[in-house]
Amino acid sequence: MKKYYIKTFGCQMNVYDSHRVAGILQSLGWSEAATLKQADLVIFNTCHIREKATEKLFSDLGRVYLLKQERAIEGKKTVIGVLGCVVQAEDEQIAKRAPYVDFALGPLTYYRLPEILEKIARKSGDTIIETDFPAESKFDFLPQNKSEGGCSYLAIQEGCNNFCTYCVVPYTRGIETSRPIEDVLAEAKKLVAEGTLEINLLGQNVNSYHGEDKNGKERDLAYLLRKLDEIDGLKRIRYTTSYPADVTDDLIRCHAEITKLMPYLHLPIQSGSDAVLRAMNRRHDVAKYLDVIYRLKEANPEIGFSSDFIVGFPGESDKDFEDTLNLVDKVKFIQAFSFKYSRRPGTPAAVMPNQVEEKVKEKRLEILQNKLFDYQLKFNQQTVGKTVEVLFEGKGRHAGQLTGRTPYMQNLYAKADKGLLNKIIRVKVEEATMNSLSGTIVEG
Ligand code: 5AD
Ligand code: SF4
Repeated sequence: MKKYYIKTFGCQMNVYDSHRVAGILQSLGWSEAATLKQADLVIFNTCHIREKATEKLFSDLGRVYLLKQERAIEGKKTVIGVLGCVVQAEDEQIAKRAPYVDFALGPLTYYRLPEILEKIARKSGDTIIETDFPAESKFDFLPQNKSEGGCSYLAIQEGCNNFCTYCVVPYTRGIETSRPIEDVLAEAKKLVAEGTLEINLLGQNVNSYHGEDKNGKERDLAYLLRKLDEIDGLKRIRYTTSYPADVTDDLIRCHAEITKLMPYLHLPIQSGSDAVLRAMNRRHDVAKYLDVIYRLKEANPEIGFSSDFIVGFPGESDKDFEDTLNLVDKVKFIQAFSFKYSRRPGTPAAVMPNQVEEKVKEKRLEILQNKLFDYQLKFNQQTVGKTVEVLFEGKGRHAGQLTGRTPYMQNLYAKADKGLLNKIIRVKVEEATMNSLSGTIVEG
């Protein structure tokens, strides 16, 4: 049996795509390699959102090329493939900088993998590159999604029409498309029948979801959430990533009415300064964002928020940065991701004047992260002494330990029998750090 190895960079959508690629390969009779060295096919699923990710890819490719040469001496063939957003943005660069790559497929064309592998088996030669935005939906061609255990991702929407001035996603993932309601429900029911207890709905702009129902009528995310709520055996629902300006009143009502909806929402703001938000082409200001936050809190007082931040966007002044810090103090995010602005070729912000110096970006990131980490630690510490429900997803760092997620996406470690894997179990929290909790299973 031939073996594959997939390395995934970037966001949850990439993790999901890699899972679907593994599904394609398994349907063709491949199995997963335990180590890179054993792999007859090595695939990198790439991210283009920030500069570092792209450079990392080329250094990883160089290392796999050496491996390919070593294996060739042993008479073994190694196929190297690149998938994902870097391919969409840098297809020619890949062929030029890494000509030993056998194929490169964009995030919307990887469903063509079976025919590509056949072509390569017949004759190896130039890098095969496919980066068109196909008219058909990849979801119509993929083998059925398989449950990943207790917790599964389900892509319902892809692409983005927002064109934030710093972001490559509209260029790499294309314009927004939504999967039909019935397809999503069928996939969700299959996942649950196979043991999934928690579904995380994915989309670059998930709350702009507008899939057609049986009658061709467009339905929104709130409608879909209510339909998912009806699935027996499904215990937890999440959705990510949301765009603040597209949070509807009905979606807010869902957070009051659907108990399966976890009390945690990732709602990126990027900056706490209206001037910077305008320059970023965000369709919301700070007041609008806070209004959404307060209304969600009203709907479910238990809800906690996470966010994304960019520091050092072109033209960001000390005062703009201070406004971001003030916003953090207002919302008290329980988790957050923060990045230095990274100039992406082809995006409007890359050619804006007043680019911020690297040193200033570094300083601001450090200050912001210290504040964000502080709130995250405080939130985790408040959990100590409480009993929380944990969905165990994997083995912990130490023998006899399992790790899982609380409703707030906190990582929790506990001494637990393997039999509790993929189950929701009550755990009393005993210790908290910024990144994780630990506790003891409560009997019964
Ligand atoms: N530079 C830095 N961070 C970026 N993001 C997107 N584009 C850039 C960029 N050019 C961040 C945003 C987004 C997250 C997924 O990545 O915060 O929400
Ligand atoms: Fe990128 Fe903005 Fe779309 Fe998010 S909303 S994917 S940041 S363009």
